[in-house]
This record gives sequence, C-alpha cells and structure tokens, in this order.
Amino acid sequence: MYSSINERNYSQVMADNEAQRQSPSHHVTKGLNYASSQRNSDNDRPLLTLIHCSDVLLAPDRQACLNNFALVADYVNAFKPDVMVITGDLVDGRKGLVRSEFQLFKDYINKVNTPVLYVPGNHDIGNKPGLGNSLSIERLSAYKEMLGSDRWYYEMNSVHLLGLNNVLLNSNFSEEREQREWLVRVLQDIPMEEKTLLFAHYPLFLENPEEALSDTHYWTVGLPAGEEQLYFLSQFKVTAYLCGHCHKAISREYAGTKFIAAPAVSFSLTNEAESVGINIVRIYPDELSVKTIRLVDLKS
Ligand SMILES: [Fe+2]
Repeated sequence: MYSSINERNYSQVMADNEAQRQSPSHHVTKGLNYASSQRNSDNDRPLLTLIHCSDVLLAPDRQACLNNFALVADYVNAFKPDVMVITGDLVDGRKGLVRSEFQLFKDYINKVNTPVLYVPGNHDIGNKPGLGNSLSIERLSAYKEMLGSDRWYYEMNSVHLLGLNNVLLNSNFSEEREQREWLVRVLQDIPMEEKTLLFAHYPLFLENPEEALSDTHYWTVGLPAGEEQLYFLSQFKVTAYLCGHCHKAISREYAGTKFIAAPAVSFSLTNEAESVGINIVRIYPDELSVKTIRLVDLKS
C-alpha cells in the first residue's frame, strides 16, 4: 500500500531542492503554475518553503486516495520543506462521522517526516447548512478530540501561519464567533510589514472577488462571512490566502493578497490526471512563488 518514491523521482526532488539552495539568479521551473522572476542574491533564499496540498479524502475503501497520499508523503520526505499544510477534506466523510477515518489520517501523516499542519474541510466536519450531511457540533468535537484544534497560529522563520476553520463560517455556532474574535486578535498583533499566510478549506472566490458577495455558491464561503473575510485580508495586509475544496490549482490576486488553491491529492473533478497534485510555495522577503507538482509525474 505504501509505495516508495522511485530513484528517478527522488533525483528530481533532490535536484530541485539543491538548485533552490545553491542557486542562482532565477528558479528552476517545472510545473503548471509557477511565478518566477529574476532575483537578486540578497533575497535568493526563501524565508520559508512549504508544501501546500488539499483534499486528500482518506478512507479505507478509497485505495487510490491512500496511494496518492503515500506518494506525496514520499515526495515530502525527500524534498524536506519547512512545513506541510493540508487545507481540509482530510478524510472521505461520505458516511458522516467515522472516527476510524480520522485515525487513518493520523496514521498516514505519521509517515511524513516534517511538521504537518491541517485545517478541517466540509468532508471532515460537515457541509454548510442546507446541503445535507451538515456541519454538526458532534463532528466538530470528534475532529478536535482526535486531530487537535481546528484553528492555529505559528510563526516560522518570521512568516506568520494561521489556520482557520472556515467551514464554520455562516453557521451561527458560538464557535464561529469565538474564532472570529481570535482571528482579529491574532491579525492585529502581527506587524503589517511581515508575511502572513492564512490557510482554510473553502475559497472566498474562484475567478472573481465578486463571488464572495454571493450566498448561493457551493464552492465558496458565501455571505456574510465571505465578504468580511475579504475585508480582513485587505485590512490586515495578509500576504496570501491558501485553500482547496475546488480540486484544481488556482492563482489569483486581489487588493494586495494572493489567492491560491492547491490541486487535490485525491482526484480531479474533470477526470484530468494532470490536475491532481501539490503545490510548492516559497516565501521570499519580496515575493511568494508557487509551483505545481503533478502526481502523474511522480508515478512515472
Ligand atoms: Fe471540500
């Protein structure tokens, strides 16, 4: 079940890593979505390198998803980023709360030899109201009990990392209010000139920021919280908002904040194998770069 990374892929990973460390005036480019630019030597070294992935959907009967996550674990172990962040839909959750799926997720992230952070998605704790298989306190409590807090804040190498449970937004649960107060408190204390990355499951929009003003879209947070989140990102000068849920790589920019959705690790919604993968995100003092690694390339 747990396949090892083959020699060719391992060499690719190490070459990429080495090129990043040693080099040069520009990045090695390989992948779908990669913003690169000429760099001066003072700013060549990233403050932080992270693997951003999403929608792994682990379950005992989803063998392809288990295989894909094992492949990612091998890649991460060879690449050695500072941290790996998974933006939700950690488990399948089709049958509602199944504690053994959370245990399976814990078992699989134990295969990763680097710090792993994650936030819940709708598959983990339930959909927004009105969609069936809905968010419930029982599922949220089980998540916290087995996988830890659904929100977090860390500072690594002068980069501020915040994880948010945005499946809670618009629920009117008391936990939503508590999280909102916590988020504002944390953001207020971060110096505006420092890099801040906010991780959550749902996108605020896919193509156009005006989607955040819609309350009917399955793929986004929706009103009123979606609009308020956009305001927070702008007010507190958040560097990037990183999410998943849409099962495709997206890179947008609005009001000074980058909006990045990672492709899914589990499967594509358009049956395109090349759209399954992970993102390498590098944060420099003056830039953030994203490179998509396709799982189909790691399998060959
Ligand atoms: Fe999702």
